[in-house]
Amino acid sequence: MRVPFVDLTAQYQATREAVDNAIQAVVASGTFIHSAPVNQFESAWAQAIGCNHAIGVANGTDALFAILRSLHIGAGDEVITPAWSWISSAETISLTGAKPVFADVDPGTFTLAPHDVALKITPRTKALVVVHLYGAVADMPALQAIAKANGLWIIEDCAQAHLSTAHGATAGSFGVASAFSFYPTKNLGAMGDAGAVLTHDADLAVRIRRFVNHGGLTKDEHLVPGINSRLDALQASILLAKLPQLPAWNAQRKRHAAHYQARLAHLTALQLPAVTEGHTVHLFVVRCHRRNELQAHLQAHGVSTHVHYPSAIPFEPAYASFGHQLADFPVSAKLQQHVLSLPVYPELSDEQVDYVCDCIQHFYER
Ligand SMILES: Cc1ncc(COP(=O)(O)O)c(C=O)c1O
Repeated sequence: MRVPFVDLTAQYQATREAVDNAIQAVVASGTFIHSAPVNQFESAWAQAIGCNHAIGVANGTDALFAILRSLHIGAGDEVITPAWSWISSAETISLTGAKPVFADVDPGTFTLAPHDVALKITPRTKALVVVHLYGAVADMPALQAIAKANGLWIIEDCAQAHLSTAHGATAGSFGVASAFSFYPTKNLGAMGDAGAVLTHDADLAVRIRRFVNHGGLTKDEHLVPGINSRLDALQASILLAKLPQLPAWNAQRKRHAAHYQARLAHLTALQLPAVTEGHTVHLFVVRCHRRNELQAHLQAHGVSTHVHYPSAIPFEPAYASFGHQLADFPVSAKLQQHVLSLPVYPELSDEQVDYVCDCIQHFYER
């Protein structure tokens, strides 16, 4: 049996008619930028998350950058961000001229550890970039209390948390603004790059919309220096066509996670992730002994896995100049040695999940 890590062709087959119709309508309209599907998707996504304003952008990284810049974060400022995340949540802070200050993550949720965040606050700290990683929502009550006590913005990175919920709200609705990625493999994925910013704040929404459109809301208006980062009509129409499926897709991911839990819980060499009620299982990340050997064994048996991530961000060459040691982020330092992401996507069959579990069991029990 072959179990790919993701299977986007299977997703296309399952949504083919809606997606083809959507693409055809945009092509026939001849309008590819600033068009109806973009506005429609922005409204639909704002409503799905529970925010007043959505701004479509070209990708999730630009979404973060646009938020930071539009909050006037820059040189001399510090922004606290997790050591354990995808690079975007730190590099966008650097690109503003501010300094990313890394905090370790909680070993149970893989998200910012509030006690370490509290230790990293200085008079220069302006904001927290909170990443809801793998589909889990961070400890928002604790992080919001810290932010409130210290007058900090909370910016949410929701690239991996499409419709994740906790503490009575949806990821993306807690902070001053949130960034979403619709990279093709995300729980809701475009057929190329795409992203969005959400916010409750009407003024901030206008500033972000200007920033990503050359500094103005209309053609030839350039009130501030901006960038070109727009969601295009084809991607917006594809996202709109797929959006109705998202709750069912998330439910399928959760079903597969439960299946993995039921089959693998007895293996002492594995530590399984806590999949809470509102978790959307973007990734199913186990911590395991002999990770690289297990990964090679699975590959040899036709099962593709990935490591999210091979290195914590402070130990990437991009941040070598910060001079961090492994001991600075003990949880992240351990994760980079032990995490392995097993295949999890809606179109995966129960037989495939069983086969992955059989292979893992065989590896540890042979
Ligand atoms: C946690 C996180 N933040 C930000 C991003 C950036 O999104 P994009 O690839 O759309 O720029 C990603 C995407 O991989 C991500 O996983």
